[in-house]
Amino acid sequence: MTVQTTGSRTAVPDGISAVNLADPKSYLENDMDAYWRRLRADHPAYRHGRDGEYPEFWVVSRYADVMALYRDDRRLTSEKGNVLVTLLAGGDSAAGQMLAVTDGRRHKDLRNVMLRAFSPRALAHVTDLVRTNTRALVSDFVRRGSGDFAAEVASVIPMTTVGGLLGVPQRDHPYLLGLTKSSLSSDEADQAPEEAFLARNEILLYFSDLVAERRADPQDDVITTLTQSDIDGVPLTDQDIVFNCYSLILGGDETSRLSMIEAVHALSREPEQWRRLKQGEVTLESAVEEILRWASPAMNFGRRALVDIELHGETIKAGDVVTLWNISANRDDAVFDDPFTLDLGRTPNKHITFGYGPHFCLGAYLARVEVKEMLDALRTFTTGFELTGEPRRIHSNLMTGMSYLPVGFTADEAGLATAGS
Ligand code: HEM
Repeated sequence: MTVQTTGSRTAVPDGISAVNLADPKSYLENDMDAYWRRLRADHPAYRHGRDGEYPEFWVVSRYADVMALYRDDRRLTSEKGNVLVTLLAGGDSAAGQMLAVTDGRRHKDLRNVMLRAFSPRALAHVTDLVRTNTRALVSDFVRRGSGDFAAEVASVIPMTTVGGLLGVPQRDHPYLLGLTKSSLSSDEADQAPEEAFLARNEILLYFSDLVAERRADPQDDVITTLTQSDIDGVPLTDQDIVFNCYSLILGGDETSRLSMIEAVHALSREPEQWRRLKQGEVTLESAVEEILRWASPAMNFGRRALVDIELHGETIKAGDVVTLWNISANRDDAVFDDPFTLDLGRTPNKHITFGYGPHFCLGAYLARVEVKEMLDALRTFTTGFELTGEPRRIHSNLMTGMSYLPVGFTADEAGLATAGS
């Protein structure tokens, strides 16, 4: 790589400027590990689209900077969007109402209301559900011997989890799953943006109906809790609740699904790590954290700068879009020893998979439970597994992972005997 220096600025080498981070195809066509390594080393504050060819936004790739900017809600706002698609479109229509795109005092109050809905009592019911569901799905899959792990196992678990939390009837889970897939990433390369837009609207309509039902007939679930909540004596509106249900279902579905798929994908390629897990040489807890670091399913989140910010000799202007790259921060060798090695016993492991600061993921506990139950079911019911075909990656500039994972499992008969039928 040749990097030319012009004055105090380093010119961006072609290999870097040729990658359009807004285009989902870029992640399938380029060696992104090499790309991030170069950005972290040479362009830690990189202005994407500087030459006008691609959309313009700042790219922050080092762990320490990503962390500092996540924390900095004084100089950066989420209210103009927190993902590329809304940031580049100029804003998010749920700003000030949906937790992830609300700042300041209102964010804090809303987060406290939502945290009540995530009380240990509500979560105890859901974590039991996750365990039972995961054990049943994985043991059935192992008995069948092979199939698409993504569709047959990993897709089903997060929707049951968040659906169970929100009180979405089981019969509607497949419908919502289809909509969440269309609205965020896509299993298809050529999905039209209008399709994503329509899917998002359908999710909102679905939750409007459910909120009306819960107001009329309260149940023991999150939607009911939200209908009974207020901030400073003012009850949450239907729209407040609908936007936040939407955020939970989108935030909680795809990210967890992709983490579980990556767990099986990564372990199928790393027999020594699988052996350590199977033989109990590493704790489930440390294995979960390493799978989360490794998968980094949410590649980036973003903000808009409220004031000028100096970073590594560059000036991020007030109003500029700033993207924070978890996927790069989680491979930063300034923080992680040997970051490109999967090490299920890695400690410490302060990955940034769930973000940091005021918007730290609300569902982190639940996501960890899901990955933990998945790893526990795998080590109990199978002696090993291998890919039986070529996996397929999703198409997204926000998420990363597989949409299709053909895999064959070898049964652990003693383990399966504990699963029930
Ligand atoms: C926020 C990642 C699972 C609900 C976030 C953020 C990240 C993230 C990086 C910060 C966004 C920002 O700063 O703008 C993940 C990953 C998951 C996961 C990688 C799984 C492996 C879940 C689950 C739920 C959930 C299971 C719900 C049940 C949310 C919500 C927020 C959030 C509501 C917004 C919090 C706020 O703005 O205060 N998540 N998430 N997430 N996540 Fe997750």
